[in-house]
Amino acid sequence: MNENTPEVLISEEDIRSRVLQLAEQISVDYADGIDLVMVGVLKGSVIFLADLARGLSIPRTIEFIAVSSYGDSNVSSGAVRLVMDVRGNIEGKHVLIVEDIVDTGHTLKYLIGMMKSHRPASIKTAALVRKADKAEVDVTVDYLGFDIGDEWVVGYGLDYAEQNRTLPYIGVIKPPDA
Ligand code: IMP
Ligand code: MG
Repeated sequence: MNENTPEVLISEEDIRSRVLQLAEQISVDYADGIDLVMVGVLKGSVIFLADLARGLSIPRTIEFIAVSSYGDSNVSSGAVRLVMDVRGNIEGKHVLIVEDIVDTGHTLKYLIGMMKSHRPASIKTAALVRKADKAEVDVTVDYLGFDIGDEWVVGYGLDYAEQNRTLPYIGVIKPPDA
């Protein structure tokens, strides 16, 4: 194997079937007729969000927000900053925050607080992966794809210094500064 090719941790097929399961569950849970807005966190969530949204059998719209936390480093500073807010009006709607990965949990916790200021009908969270052992704050992931260990993962939206986001599977790399 090429040394630059990440080792497969979660296959394309496993991701596809898990994302469809989550989509089915979400379609059942949000069947009350109130508008559902999926709020994707740029850039890592875009591929997960695209597949999840298209798996739903209920009406939904999508919005994006952007935050900055790590820069190009792989160490969480815990300091999260909003770089771009939603553009549409989400007041009175169900908000489902869609994240790529929950590591320490600081980002998701911050985003939940931020979304509250828009006065939605409800706020829930979806994340493709979570590093359970690394949680520093208590934050609920309502729709979780996979729990993983403490390793740096790339692919299916996830990057290391912007590389490997478009890999079809989730792979593991060893960042040089790990
Ligand atoms: P948290 O605030 O520590 O939970 O960090 C969450 C953010 O860190 C995610 O939205 C990712 O952008 C990034 N991140 C954390 N771990 C990984 C990883 O293994 N691969 C790629 N991005 C990661
Ligand atoms: Mg992210």
